[in-house]
Amino acid sequence: MARNQKDYYYDLAQKEGYRSRASYKLKQIQEFSNIIKRGDIIVDLGAAPGGWLQVAKELSGGRVLGVDLQKIEEIRNVTTYKGDITADSTIDYVLEFAGKGGVDVVLCDAAPNLTGNWALDHARGIELNRAAFECAKKILKPKGTFVVKVFQGDMFKDFFDDVKGEFVHVRAYTPQASRSTSAEIYVIAKKFLTAPIRKGQIYAVEITETGASGDGIAHIDDFVIFVKEAVTGSIVKIKIKDVKPNFGFAEVVEELKELPPNPKYGNPVQERTQKPLSAEFERQNRQPPGNASRDNYRPPKPDDDEENE
Ligand SMILES: C[S@@+](CC[C@H](N)C(=O)[O-])C[C@H]1O[C@@H](n2cnc3c(N)ncnc32)[C@H](O)[C@@H]1O
Repeated sequence: MARNQKDYYYDLAQKEGYRSRASYKLKQIQEFSNIIKRGDIIVDLGAAPGGWLQVAKELSGGRVLGVDLQKIEEIRNVTTYKGDITADSTIDYVLEFAGKGGVDVVLCDAAPNLTGNWALDHARGIELNRAAFECAKKILKPKGTFVVKVFQGDMFKDFFDDVKGEFVHVRAYTPQASRSTSAEIYVIAKKFLTAPIRKGQIYAVEITETGASGDGIAHIDDFVIFVKEAVTGSIVKIKIKDVKPNFGFAEVVEELKELPPNPKYGNPVQERTQKPLSAEFERQNRQPPGNASRDNYRPPKPDDDEENE
């Protein structure tokens, strides 16, 4: 089954002039979620040999940058950069490309060199995912899109939840072109939030108006929050329930007598800084390839790397 799948997309890529069978994964993601629009500025992290870059350029026609540890052979009107996406020097280059205006879409199909040790491969994959996520947060325009390949495992949920905290719509999707035995899944995050608030945060606010729906309206840094059933003139402690690009929704958790000096109560959405894998973790998890610890995890075979296809 996997071989047929491989042969089909591999042959199609050869026939249609794409550098990688992975091109069809991006095409299917596009069909599923319409992530790239005409004129979009796109950054692709972990882009070699360039199958996604070809598709991204075709779809957008706009400025496109591809970054990889390996040299990417030239693609007409596509900028390429050889570098490690976890390195500051690479991110500096990407920031320069993005400029003050930012980019519309950040793609990341990066994959670590698989060892066959499920836990180690998963952790290394998440490290790349977090590097791409941090980069995306620095360069995306408001309402921008982030698509990232994740190898499923214990750390998937935390990563998924963190991405959910920064975008309006987030879902996971496995394109048909992914092998049925692969643990990969694509996280598609749309509408990057630039609002000053995040879901779950708690604030003290004054309700200054009543909206058409009858809910109270408060402002945090000029950002409008609709507070369920709150009365104009009241001072309340609220919990943010949902955040959209231009406004948020909250509910009252406590009536207050006056506004406290600091209206924000802690920050439940923890900023996660990207940490390199510890040497201890690497040591504990280093095993010969083939000792995979999950049934659905298939150790890599030499002919199984995207780069070789
Ligand atoms: C599956 S391939 C990408 C295929 C690509 N989307 C295409 O369509 O041709 C994964 C790529 O991630 C790159 N990669 C892995 N770790 C990286 C890192 N730390 N920095 C930059 N690229 C990395 C690898 O060199 C490899 O080329």
